[in-house]
Amino acid sequence: MRQEAQARQASIPPRLPVEAKSRINQQERDKRLKSPDMIKHESDVTPAVLAVMEQTQDPRLRQIMISLIKHLHGFIRDVHLTEEELRTAARLIISIGQQSSDTHNEAILLAGSLGISSLVCLLNNGENGTKETSQSLLGPFWRLNSPQVENGGSLLRSPTPGPALFMSARVIDQAGQPVIGAQVDIWHSSPVGYYENQDQAQADFNLRGTFTTNEEGRFWFRSVRPAGYPVPTNGIVGQLLSAQNRHPYRPAHIHALIFKPGFKTLISQVYADDDPHLTTDVQFGVTRALIGHFERHEEPHAQATDAGSPWYSLDYTYVMEQGEARLPTPPIK
Ligand SMILES: [Fe+2]
Repeated sequence: MRQEAQARQASIPPRLPVEAKSRINQQERDKRLKSPDMIKHESDVTPAVLAVMEQTQDPRLRQIMISLIKHLHGFIRDVHLTEEELRTAARLIISIGQQSSDTHNEAILLAGSLGISSLVCLLNNGENGTKETSQSLLGPFWRLNSPQVENGGSLLRSPTPGPALFMSARVIDQAGQPVIGAQVDIWHSSPVGYYENQDQAQADFNLRGTFTTNEEGRFWFRSVRPAGYPVPTNGIVGQLLSAQNRHPYRPAHIHALIFKPGFKTLISQVYADDDPHLTTDVQFGVTRALIGHFERHEEPHAQATDAGSPWYSLDYTYVMEQGEARLPTPPIK
């Protein structure tokens, strides 16, 4: 406890004795009161804060802080924020932190629910937002080191009832050439909408696997059809959704993380075209380029599935952009 108190003390700036602070003459006092920098009305606040923000040394941080102040002050004027609402906002921010843990990030969930994650993704991909892109959101459940699976193999590591799925995909570059030898990490929810890390009934790494693209840039596998699922609603995001009469569902999707040196790591989600929530994704992650056609088949097919019929096939083409191959920090272990 004493160490904590000492550390706290060390971080507090030193005080000036009152004598040193108050030795200014009347002339100086009058000058200060008449200074154009003195805040007199609400309209004086923003220029005063912007002048301070201008002093930020790091150029990117300066740019961000100046723009943030302009927009935040503009927003406050726009809605005429009340003092009580400001205190409520501070409490909400504290709650977002308190509701986050090693396995749950309420801040990212909120960013998704406000369209911020989608906007940042689309701004920074597809040639800086000028073209449609295969990039999407990482989501909260990517795990490192999912087991390597041969092309044509299965993602099932424990019995997982539900309609079978055969996915066949191609990875190409922006010129349409195959991306050979890329590592493709696939993960998806079960036919009842649970990832293996959320579900006692599934084996470790069930519905997860890593593939290597062949000389045509292709990979393919057998699995079961994922279902859509609700995002957690026991926090701030749940309160927001209920205040806005919004459902909490994400449409069914298949996650991919595709890694090959020389290319920007492709983080993608392919959404089922027949899902009832396709156009109302609570996270605003669905874009036209990410919609996959889940084709239903009534006739059994030995190669595609060993689970009989009906079964679904999905063909999809991922497009990688040039860039730096960097792995994100896994949200869970
Ligand atoms: Fe997901």
